[in-house]
Amino acid sequence: MSDETAVKRVRTRHFGQAREAGTPITGLTSYDALTAGIFDEAGIDFLLVGDSAANVVFGYESTVPVTMDELIPLARAVAGATRRALVVADLPFGSYELGADQALSSAFRFMKEAGVHAVKLEGGVRSEEQISRVVEAGIPVMAHIGYTPQSEHKFGGHVVQGRGDAADAVIQDALAVERAGAFAVVLEMVPSDVAARVTEAVSIPTIGIGAGTQVSGQILVWSDFAGLNGGRYPRFVKKFADLRGQLLEAARSYRDEVVGGTFPGPEHQFE
Ligand code: KIV
Repeated sequence: MSDETAVKRVRTRHFGQAREAGTPITGLTSYDALTAGIFDEAGIDFLLVGDSAANVVFGYESTVPVTMDELIPLARAVAGATRRALVVADLPFGSYELGADQALSSAFRFMKEAGVHAVKLEGGVRSEEQISRVVEAGIPVMAHIGYTPQSEHKFGGHVVQGRGDAADAVIQDALAVERAGAFAVVLEMVPSDVAARVTEAVSIPTIGIGAGTQVSGQILVWSDFAGLNGGRYPRFVKKFADLRGQLLEAARSYRDEVVGGTFPGPEHQFE
């Protein structure tokens, strides 16, 4: 998306305009004021306060346990630290599945208590009613289909969705969320040709994560793209930095200097 409007807030209509113009939309997750400020300054179009905070911030094994009460302060920090990026907050597992009323009251909390600009929720056909009701109330919704991490246990792990005959279900999900009024849809871990078919089938922007290039934009979890995690990375991640390595080295140097008596030096002391 163009950054001609450097200090003007990205709005949901800009997503549609970017798709029309063929300008890729950029998104990253963020869970705190410092990274939000940096990503905003870098011109990232939207920041998602993802329920991936479950893993990245709280150290849970999956996104299932994280709650609204845990995400709201993070969303408030991100919304407060951005001037341009559209901030989207993720409705966590258990905060919208009971029906449209529950989805709306959770979305209200994010809007009123955190000051975000949109919410995201998982599911296609199964979440159509919830999306419609939230959108009707004036709250923009980003949908999320394909591999939806909150259903990890149903899928039996991190499994690519939409292969073979299952492609049609992904397309039906995309059509359902478009019908319900979602302004964009995240497509996670689907084969590239299926993502291309979805992008062709709907007129709303498609945001890929493990969905190839035939989409309207991309999103990555920030600790993945910045190389902050130890261990294995999903195939769709590119590490644009090695923050883990740099922080580890910095922490070791700090420790060595404190133990060796070279920090603090005279320049770090008060007269
Ligand atoms: O919570 C999250 O980080 C997400 C992205 C994977 C899109 O939903």
